[in-house]
Amino acid sequence: MTPLRVAVLGGGRSSEHEVSLASAASVAGGLREAGYDVRAIEIGRDGVWREGDGAEADAMSLAPGRGLDGADIVFPVLHGPFGEDGTVQGLLECLDIPYVGAGVLASALCMDKLLFKELMASAGIPQVEYRAVRESWWRGDPAAVLSDLGGLGVPVFVKPARLGSSVGIVRVVSVDDLTGALDTAFQHDTQAIIEAEATGLEVECSVLGNGEPIASQPGEIMLAAGESGWYDYEAKYTPGGMKLIVPARVPEHVRERVRELAVTTFRKAGCCGFARVDFFVDGERVLVNELNTIPGFTQTSVFGSLFEASGIPYPELLDRLVRLGIERYEEERHHRH
Ligand SMILES: Nc1ncnc2c1ncn2[C@@H]1O[C@H](COP(=O)(O)OP(=O)(O)O)[C@@H](O)[C@H]1O
Ligand SMILES: [Mg+2]
Repeated sequence: MTPLRVAVLGGGRSSEHEVSLASAASVAGGLREAGYDVRAIEIGRDGVWREGDGAEADAMSLAPGRGLDGADIVFPVLHGPFGEDGTVQGLLECLDIPYVGAGVLASALCMDKLLFKELMASAGIPQVEYRAVRESWWRGDPAAVLSDLGGLGVPVFVKPARLGSSVGIVRVVSVDDLTGALDTAFQHDTQAIIEAEATGLEVECSVLGNGEPIASQPGEIMLAAGESGWYDYEAKYTPGGMKLIVPARVPEHVRERVRELAVTTFRKAGCCGFARVDFFVDGERVLVNELNTIPGFTQTSVFGSLFEASGIPYPELLDRLVRLGIERYEEERHHRH
């Protein structure tokens, strides 16, 4: 039997371009190991899709309904806006080709920290207290915004609503610094989310599946900076900036609570294929922070490491993801529109 051909998408227009390329190269390697025929497609910072390597790379042209250059399935390994946010998923729907991971709606929802939190709040998922601020409101009536935010106290985290890798996030310890933090957030987005600071450990849990998702062992993020630091861009991408401890050093019943909440969050958000759900855990209290529909995906990234520690090696994980993508496509193509 000829092996299935998988097109791996890496790069993209977001600030996480380089991170995505590293993840995509690992995914391509793992898929080859699992026996797939892999072709790499790089999306440039300019948004152009190119197939092949370096100078030999050719710009691709895409035609709706015609698939993607003979590929059986696409594996988007893109982080942040224009990749993880439903836009590329929408394009793949138009091309009519199966793809790995969350669909358009779940991708867009999980990219938007405000909408995600609002949906989770309505589902009774425990989270930090937060406020939303639109740029137009901030520019029009900063005093009213600051008074509204006063209810959260300090410290708070000020974040652009739709970004990743901690880009644009500021931890504010003095109210005098709120103005600067909001200005930073609005350099990246027209909406900001301001959150009360959660105490305790950061714990992450990987999820795999479509209708009946499973959760990995939860892992704990231990920062080189110690308890005074937070998981900022530097901690994420400087070698040695963080250490993953699996399983997380919390009691067994708290680990089970994390796994259960990870699966519930995945389902409520309407995810498919895979995701990593991130938590704050303090004693018995477990709060959901966010859900990443395309988490970092090198062999040593948290997502794969957690499943590795749970008995699913990297190539098998990728193999399962490809199958889940095809399964979902087959299920959905029976619907009439
Ligand atoms: N409400 C919060 N309380 C405590 N720490 C937070 C809070 N929000 C964010 N952080 C810190 O900032 C990091 C990045 O925030 P997060 O919302 O996960 O953004 P990103 O999507 O960029 O990863 C978290 O991993 C954590 O270290
Ligand atoms: Mg995060």
